[in-house]
Amino acid sequence: MPRHPLSAYAGRGMPCPGVRGAKTRMGAPHAGVPGADTPAARTMVRVSSRWGIAAYAGGVSEFNVRPARSADIPGIHRLLEPLVDRRILLGKDLAVLYGAVQEFVVAEASGELIGCGALHVMWEDLGEIRTLLVREDWLHHGIGRAIVEELEEKARRLGLSRLFCLTFETEFFARRGFEPIGEQIVDADVYSQLLRSGDAGVEEFLDLAHVKPNTLGNTRMLKHL
Ligand SMILES: CC(C)(COP(=O)(O)OP(=O)(O)OC[C@H]1O[C@@H](n2cnc3c(N)ncnc32)[C@H](O)[C@@H]1OP(=O)(O)O)[C@@H](O)C(=O)NCCC(=O)NCCS
Repeated sequence: MPRHPLSAYAGRGMPCPGVRGAKTRMGAPHAGVPGADTPAARTMVRVSSRWGIAAYAGGVSEFNVRPARSADIPGIHRLLEPLVDRRILLGKDLAVLYGAVQEFVVAEASGELIGCGALHVMWEDLGEIRTLLVREDWLHHGIGRAIVEELEEKARRLGLSRLFCLTFETEFFARRGFEPIGEQIVDADVYSQLLRSGDAGVEEFLDLAHVKPNTLGNTRMLKHL
């Protein structure tokens, strides 16, 4: 079954966190909130970074992005479920998520998980941004961008120079410097070694026949760091 495009996920009116009764929509963020849809409101600034926790503020919201802890995994699993049901993201069992906890960063506001994303290292120079999501009522607050920035910083620290993603969110990633790629971007030797990874995401990266139904409609994108 192909994963559905994002249009199945967003575009509905949704409550704007922190502003009772306000609505925000795709293409008209924070409609009805005085001053919210202004350039200033759109500027989500990283106000501090300490002990690995980056605090962002701006517009009508404040949130932190920090490395995930094992206690976050059930919450990540809950955030992931609706997107898996809609075939937007690859489903992951709790055991797989616990095993990957060090790959994750999470965004939180007022102690609640509102987004997450993971960096999976595939090869010496190559990583993948995966399981990137923002809770539906927090879309368009700059949280996705902040999570990607943290993951890119993490990738640079690890010495990676290329970041892959497989996504329906082509505009979001294009604005962040990702470009669509058509063919394989690893040589035959690396390809054959990656075949042994046993990782479903890597199998999607390799575009193996048995995972093709999962990736229909997704775009393969790459960013040089
Ligand atoms: C992709 C996804 C994570 C983006 O999350 P997001 O938090 O809505 O993303 P952002 O708010 O950072 O950016 C989206 C746009 O919102 C708008 N926006 C950002 N901050 C804003 C603010 N404070 N006020 C108003 N609008 C804002 C901007 O137009 C922004 O685009 P730009 O920064 O490129 O100009 C989210 O759509 C999602 O969860 N999708 C489903 C899962 C998925 O497909 N994941 C990718 C596969 S790995």
